[in-house]
Amino acid sequence: MSVTVLLLLVTLCVQGGYGEEREEAQRPGHVSVVIVGGTGDLAKKYLWQGFFQLYVSQVSSGNTFSFYGGGLSPADKATPLLFEILKAVSCSKDVSQERCALLKDQFLRLSQYRQLKTLEDYQDLAEHIEKQLQQEGMTEAGRLFYLSVPAFAYADIADKINNSCRPASGAWLRVVLEKPFGHDFRSAQVLASQLGSSLKDEEMYRIDHYLGKQVVAKILPFRIENKRFLDPIWNKQHIERVEIVLKETLDVKGRIPFYDQYGVIRDVLQNHLTEVMTLLTMRLPVNLSSSEEVLQNKLHIFSSLLPLGKNQAVIGQYQSYKSEVQQELNKTKDHVSLTPTFAAVLAHIDEAQYEDVPILLISGKMLDERVGYARILFKNDIFCLQNHNSIHCKPKQIVFYFGHGSLQYPAILVSKNLFKPVLTDSEWKEVTEHTDVSVLGLSLSDYYVQTPTEQREAYTELISHIFAGRKNSFISTENLLASWGLWTPLLSTLSSSFPRIYPGGADNGDLLDVCLKGKDISFNSEVVIISPDQMGSTSAGGFQVMQGKFRSANMVSAWAEELVERLAADVQELAEAAVRESGVFHLALSGGSSPLALFHRLALHHFSFPWRNTHVWMVDERCVPLTEPESNFYTLHNHLLQHVRIPYYNIHPMPVQLNHRLCVEEDGGAQLYETEISKLVNGSSFHFVLLGVGYDSHTASLFPGTKMKDFGESLVALTESPVKPHQRMSLTFSAINRAQRVALLVMGKGKHELITQLSRVKDDPEKWPVTGVKPTNGRLVWYMDYDALLG
Ligand code: BG6
Repeated sequence: MSVTVLLLLVTLCVQGGYGEEREEAQRPGHVSVVIVGGTGDLAKKYLWQGFFQLYVSQVSSGNTFSFYGGGLSPADKATPLLFEILKAVSCSKDVSQERCALLKDQFLRLSQYRQLKTLEDYQDLAEHIEKQLQQEGMTEAGRLFYLSVPAFAYADIADKINNSCRPASGAWLRVVLEKPFGHDFRSAQVLASQLGSSLKDEEMYRIDHYLGKQVVAKILPFRIENKRFLDPIWNKQHIERVEIVLKETLDVKGRIPFYDQYGVIRDVLQNHLTEVMTLLTMRLPVNLSSSEEVLQNKLHIFSSLLPLGKNQAVIGQYQSYKSEVQQELNKTKDHVSLTPTFAAVLAHIDEAQYEDVPILLISGKMLDERVGYARILFKNDIFCLQNHNSIHCKPKQIVFYFGHGSLQYPAILVSKNLFKPVLTDSEWKEVTEHTDVSVLGLSLSDYYVQTPTEQREAYTELISHIFAGRKNSFISTENLLASWGLWTPLLSTLSSSFPRIYPGGADNGDLLDVCLKGKDISFNSEVVIISPDQMGSTSAGGFQVMQGKFRSANMVSAWAEELVERLAADVQELAEAAVRESGVFHLALSGGSSPLALFHRLALHHFSFPWRNTHVWMVDERCVPLTEPESNFYTLHNHLLQHVRIPYYNIHPMPVQLNHRLCVEEDGGAQLYETEISKLVNGSSFHFVLLGVGYDSHTASLFPGTKMKDFGESLVALTESPVKPHQRMSLTFSAINRAQRVALLVMGKGKHELITQLSRVKDDPEKWPVTGVKPTNGRLVWYMDYDALLG
């Protein structure tokens, strides 16, 4: 007997002390559970099931329960709804059918709906609870209010609970809250202080359901259990980087009114991924069950995180988001939302242990797969000359796999070139039979794999933790404000940034790949959309023009009018330079509608343009007489040539009409033009070629499907257009790519879709002809107006 007493004392000593977990609910008594919003979505999907499971686990513990589903609707309307939900709860596999039926029946009998609208409703509820306690002679253990309602209602409900529903002393009160806990630091602070006037901090249970995920909850215990293996390698000398990733395939249709105000950073990164990051990097607590120590260690990480600026984040938005917003928020077609649905953020901890270790937090909707994980990738300094399949040559990594993805179950995976993790927890088991699955670059058999013996829903776990008063699994006010303190400056910086548009699913290809350079992160492929503050901006000549990159080439962007002004100024500058240098300027111009504005600008505003020394060539021509309005030359003549003083002999229309017929191969029109170019243009290298791009990505008269190779070295060729007039004459890429400067002019909203696509396709001139424009020694510049760039 003395041994038992001693053991009990030892246990009490370990558990006692300041700020430690108070497992008050262990004292048996009556517990009243109230789900406010008890017929809502979350309650229906997870909460009632979680409380049923709590009931099942506690049924023989000496505790008794009453369950109340609360809501604004009157009881006669909502009661049938509540019971529909309650009837759907299920038992775990180890409970027999008969027992399950019995437990469900009891659970249903213990449950009722109550309208909870006014203060009187809450007072009635309190009276009801007290009467029941008295009638049945029960001691009260506590009252649990789960607020499954929009956050704006929290303060008011907390106030009502405080005023009317507090249990008598000796029994606990716990109020559970769901995110969002504010929109930024300031609003989170306001909400916290409103709640703080009704509830004590220890009475508030702020849910982050990621803390209820079995693998997330296991991070600290795993780090402690494997301390002797991890201590030597859990540092900057060994960790290459940390990746915390939640990829989702779904869109946010139906949730836009909420989502458009929050976006992925507030919805996922500020809470779920940040929590995982702190668990991975915080100092290990001496006493894992001390919520105070765990909190202090977490707060220490927050204070060591380097501030996040705009160079530490990239954002994206799936393509159809815009129209979903227009629809769900009743906006017009030109409404643009900048809310990101994808974000990749690079964090660093300013501590000797983690100095310069990149910590990537990534999440997005409409990605290629649903998967969540945290990976610690270690440096591998072994160079394998030959046997690449040897485990020593493979990535060294520990993966906390939250679920879904290729593996489909939660697990902790340690690559076999690291160590064999210990397994002391009876609720976890080792996976030994390996299916043909690969996880983050390694096949399953290259890992030691541990998984929970029984998979449990995060909400079910958290409900049992609320009941046990385990505060570690919840977000304290300090923790919350520290997290908003980290994210708020970044969110304000990004608030006017344009997210990169991505098509969604597998089509995203490598569009959202990111590249880490020192402390900065950027998209790996060239930009589609750049926020104005990411671009250099010039205001020369009194207009605002931005510069950036598109498909590895320079890009100039502005509103249409300014863009054309800038292009005209650039053409004149080059013309003057060429004339100064060689006495002549060779300019090749395209047809189509985009250049018209440029022609007008040159004709009406550039009186000092050196036309006398300029030769005007055609980039392409339609096989129609030059006197027809359809002819490119006709348009050029009408809109430009007839307005400027250019010598006739400097004008070079394409010879599409020879021997009284149009574009007949044997007439050799293309060769004639080529000869003329070769004779007059030094090295056949035009000083300036102006191109446009069509909706099908054709440029000049080089259309998708044209066999570019068939042109060999020819500078001019006859080509086929899918639209009338079908026959064309065009400069080939051999001619275009010899030029000293090529400008690609793209204007109008109609081109935005194309621009988005072009931003991610590889060079493939036969499919996407414009991708064949790659001046060998010259320079390509995209001139894109905001409509084409931003849609
Ligand atoms: C929620 C977010 O908190 O977490 C959702 O509001 C997101 O947008 C979800 O889909 C992800 O959770 P899980 O458990 O499906 O990974």
